[in-house]
Amino acid sequence: MPVPDLTARKLVQRPGSRKPALPRRALLAAPLLPLLGGAGPAAGLGALAAGKGVLFGTALTRMELEGSPGLGRIAETDAAVIVPGLELKWSGHRPSPEGFDFGDADFMVRFAGERGKALRGHALVWHEALPPWFASAPQDAAGMRALLERHIRTVAGRYAGRMQSWDVVNEPVEPWYRRADGLRETPFLRALGPGYIDLAFRLAHEADPAARLVLNEYGLEMPTEDNAARRAAVLALLRGMRARGVPVHALGIQAHLSAAARGFDAGLLRGFIREVAALGLEVYVTELDVTDRGLPPEIPARDAAVARCYRTFLEAALAEPALRLVVLWGLSDRYTWMNDSPHARREDGLPVRAHLYDGNFRPKPAWHAVADAFRAAPPR
Ligand code: XIL
Repeated sequence: MPVPDLTARKLVQRPGSRKPALPRRALLAAPLLPLLGGAGPAAGLGALAAGKGVLFGTALTRMELEGSPGLGRIAETDAAVIVPGLELKWSGHRPSPEGFDFGDADFMVRFAGERGKALRGHALVWHEALPPWFASAPQDAAGMRALLERHIRTVAGRYAGRMQSWDVVNEPVEPWYRRADGLRETPFLRALGPGYIDLAFRLAHEADPAARLVLNEYGLEMPTEDNAARRAAVLALLRGMRARGVPVHALGIQAHLSAAARGFDAGLLRGFIREVAALGLEVYVTELDVTDRGLPPEIPARDAAVARCYRTFLEAALAEPALRLVVLWGLSDRYTWMNDSPHARREDGLPVRAHLYDGNFRPKPAWHAVADAFRAAPPR
């Protein structure tokens, strides 16, 4: 089937235009759920989740899709929303201070569009995945403001009307810096103060008024002192943003989990989600995965523990009606960021089995655990 050239025709940026660059109907199109032809689970997770009023999907990259047709097939079956894993980070489309290269991002938008999938953008502002030239860009207030304005207007504007949601600011909190507000010291904070967060959300809302705008953070789900400090800082930040009338619509809980971690507390997670909901916000699970670091090497035991962790976490989160979206940070063990992460990779050097499908795109117990969690979830 020929691939329609959306890049050249529909995605051309119109400076100053507030009109959506892609048809609005693409945003809400019902996910297509072709059967897997006996190779895997017949009813996709996206359909199960949709039955409960939850949007479900996965992060993926162009490189992964081009490397493995099998990945495209399972994504087509299970995901109702697609998140470009790298392509919408600054390093994914800002080759130079002047330039934008949307080739890879457009590929992902086209992949989702042709399959009737929704899309999430990740991420407009993040202290990581910045291109090398960023360090020598002007770091004073006026320079940084101009940089953010141009970036957000251009990127969010290009896909306006096409994104179900945007992670506007990713990982703004880090209690380690010991600031009273718990914010992370980033080049954006150093140049503009904490106001960079409000600014980014206002710019994103102007550029794409239809997108739900998300503050995305990690380390929020466990009953540890560290996570408690992060929860407090996030709540204070969101409360302030709401009081100032900043267009923020949801908190994204990344949820990079560990199957070996002890003492998950469902009541505490649910209480936190309720506190966020009380601010008038939705809650999204934006990057769910489960490392098996710290577990013995035997595969059946690892797979069972990982599956249990997915199920326990999702059952707790889905019990709260404010929880409206679940995105996995990877669907198959073939491609995972976790083997490269010093905190997530296994110490024995074995590849992690952190996702729902194995490296050959066969469903693991974790697939069934996630399906069970959606079946058990109350509708919203
Ligand atoms: C990861 C990507 O998946 C990797 O391919 C990349 O090398 C590093 O970033 N939190 C986030 C994501 O918000 O953007 C990160 O994604 C994983 C942690």
